[in-house]
Amino acid sequence: MKLTLAIAVSLLATSVHGVADHLWYRYSLPNITDWYNEIKVHPDMEPTSTYFMSNGFGNGYFGIQPNAPNKTVLFSIWDADDGTKVTNQYCGPKSICSTFGGEGTGLHVNYNFNWTAGVTYAGLIKTKSVVPGYTDFSGYFMHENKEWYHMATYRRKQPTPWLTGLYSFVENPSSVTINITRRTNFGNQWVRNATGHSEELTVAGLDHTSPLVASDRYGAGVDKTSFYLFINGPSNDIPKNTTLVRQATHQEPDWSMQGKTGGKTTKKSTKKTGHKTTKKSKKTTIKKSSKAGHESHRKSTIRSSHHSKVVKKSHKKHEEPAQHHSDKHHPGKHPQKKHEKPAKHH
Ligand SMILES: *[C@@H]1O[C@H](CO)[C@@H](O)[C@H](O)[C@H]1NC(C)=O
Ligand SMILES: *[C@@H]1O[C@H](CO)[C@@H](O)[C@H](O)[C@H]1NC(C)=O
Ligand SMILES: *[C@@H]1O[C@H](CO)[C@@H](O)[C@H](O)[C@H]1NC(C)=O
Ligand SMILES: *[C@@H]1O[C@H](CO)[C@@H](O)[C@H](O)[C@H]1NC(C)=O
Ligand SMILES: *[C@@H]1O[C@H](CO)[C@@H](O)[C@H](O)[C@H]1NC(C)=O
Ligand SMILES: *[C@@H]1O[C@H](CO)[C@@H](O)[C@H](O)[C@H]1NC(C)=O
Repeated sequence: MKLTLAIAVSLLATSVHGVADHLWYRYSLPNITDWYNEIKVHPDMEPTSTYFMSNGFGNGYFGIQPNAPNKTVLFSIWDADDGTKVTNQYCGPKSICSTFGGEGTGLHVNYNFNWTAGVTYAGLIKTKSVVPGYTDFSGYFMHENKEWYHMATYRRKQPTPWLTGLYSFVENPSSVTINITRRTNFGNQWVRNATGHSEELTVAGLDHTSPLVASDRYGAGVDKTSFYLFINGPSNDIPKNTTLVRQATHQEPDWSMQGKTGGKTTKKSTKKTGHKTTKKSKKTTIKKSSKAGHESHRKSTIRSSHHSKVVKKSHKKHEEPAQHHSDKHHPGKHPQKKHEKPAKHH
């Protein structure tokens, strides 16, 4: 009995701790190449190592973490299904770019920016097919003064550059501070395609990792033009109807990322960094409306509810964010794959 418990605890320590909740965005725009989301973490609900993941998609994700000693912005791309490695095309001057391993492998970048809870930032993912058969994924972070920072561009073996399975989540990869509430808002989501058509994403389906245990308390809902998500709450706040609809802003983001030139530099965002202007690529496209199903991995058991449609090709494993006590990254949940074994800590 004692031994069983010890094993269970050790499995627990290798994975996501407690429930994580996810928002799966609905959209009808075909062939998405640009994916924008705003994030505002709730003050005092940002314990170390939480991953507030704003811009998730089939082959990677982007978000912010209150790691110690530094807060960071993280952008990751998984290696191709056939094992072909992601290659680095650009690593911003303030970025730390490296590989990650475990069950999922790929490249990721940390930008150690001391973000502040209660302030709205944004993430933008842009894709482009530069070399036939490959897709370049660029991750950009928008500071509070609208100045953009180009974190990195990674090239992945993937014939079409469309972003699918768009989602956000909050999760706790650390066994420390397991019962401190983590809460954030994700708002004003927009997508755009290569011919410049855009769509505001106002509808999202709520999902959570499962099974739940008695101590799991999470919630989600709508705050005007944003969605909120929390985990490890003092109590549950689970909407009856898990299809959430936020108010539209009708305010498209600054796709060209020109805010950098007009923005005032604050002490927190003094970098003048590589940035890019948007270019329109003339891709032709494939229709692939998507609403990816996914499965998440939690504790040693896995199972997640799933909305979902077909997902043709499996995508990469999700890497979990770094722990405050370790620099290792591990695969964690994953939107479109059946099931992963618990990640290992080293
Ligand atoms: C980040 O900012 C907070 C609040 O201003 C400050 O207390 C903290 O020391 C800063 N952290 C780093 C690593 O600079
Ligand atoms: C944390 O930030 C400081 C100041 O920018 C930097 O010198 C240090 O290397 C960073 N630590 C880690 C682990 O990234
Ligand atoms: C947090 O979790 C620890 C370990 O399970 C427990 O001892 C403690 O009472 C919990 N604190 C709260 C506020 O629930
Ligand atoms: C972008 O979306 C519009 C509107 O749905 C569509 O007509 C157009 O074909 C799409 N562009 C591409 C490149 O797929
Ligand atoms: C849930 O909300 C969505 C969006 O408002 C709506 O279309 C749907 O009918 C609702 N479902 C139920 C069972 O109320
Ligand atoms: C999406 O792109 C493919 C080419 O990759 C194209 O055949 C298809 O028509 C595009 N879809 C739309 C709706 O434009």
